[in-house]
Amino acid sequence: MATEKKVTAIKNTPKHLLGIQNLSVLAAKEILNEAKSFIKLNRGSSKKLDVLRGKTQINLFFEPSTRTQSSFDLAGKRLGADVMTMNMGNSALKKGETLIDTAMTLNAMHPDIIVIRHQDSGAPNLLSQKVNCTVINAGDGRREHPTQALLDALTIINRKGNIEGLKIAICGDILHSRVARSNIYLMNMLGAEVNVIAPKTLMPEGIDNLGVKSFTDMKKGLDGCDIVMMLRLQNERMQGSFLPSKREYYEFFGLTPEKLKFAKKDALLMHPGPMNRGVEIDTKLADDINVSLVKEQVELGVAVRMACLKLYCK
Ligand code: NCD
Repeated sequence: MATEKKVTAIKNTPKHLLGIQNLSVLAAKEILNEAKSFIKLNRGSSKKLDVLRGKTQINLFFEPSTRTQSSFDLAGKRLGADVMTMNMGNSALKKGETLIDTAMTLNAMHPDIIVIRHQDSGAPNLLSQKVNCTVINAGDGRREHPTQALLDALTIINRKGNIEGLKIAICGDILHSRVARSNIYLMNMLGAEVNVIAPKTLMPEGIDNLGVKSFTDMKKGLDGCDIVMMLRLQNERMQGSFLPSKREYYEFFGLTPEKLKFAKKDALLMHPGPMNRGVEIDTKLADDINVSLVKEQVELGVAVRMACLKLYCK
């Protein structure tokens, strides 16, 4: 019975995983449940399955990545797929041409799944219209990063048991963050209350329409929060000056042990990485195993990506 239900949720979901926005609650829960089963496997000594044997997975990364790229790579290999990772960061070709040309070339090789990260919002959607296989978005511009939000959700569930009823603060460069957007959609969908905290210049207009409360003051925004998600300043997406200085930013928006006290007593801290220590977060706090879930996020990222590959690679 449970299995039938699982199959139905993903069956009714679009062929591609392009964002949380076009994911149903049932499908999101199905991915999270599937991922739970991989946590134990990944901690064991024998990690190899043959669920995706005979399948070809291509990872296409047009932007730098450490965690996302390596975990998609490992995830595919642990499921038995043939995995090819292409680092497109140094390509000199024009963006639009590169993507479409590359898509057609790769399509001719009959992959079963393409994982793409691209600096342009909407690039995975475009790719999905050009190829026959499933496309998974590994982060597009400032739009969405669905697997990051799913791994964040799994990390929270693993620690707190549930997401429903929690109060979650997302702090920092909300304007340029795909992680923020995907997390806002997913945490809302799973029943959390979401606060976003940023300086005015890094707060998108109309953000309240996404069902969040916005704050420019850490003290007010962190009040009563169970989870504090910190974000990196996305300097590569900024043209012009958004902040007076990094020092001032740290003063008002950097998470320090003192500011964390504004949240609940047992509040936990998260960061998608890469972290800029001393800019958005105090370096000791980032490594404090009593409050920081950063390492766990990386660990569970592999499980979540295994679940997505398994469920979407049909
Ligand atoms: C994030 C990204 O690339 O959007 N990193 C990640 O995937 N772990 C966040 C960031 O780069 O700041």
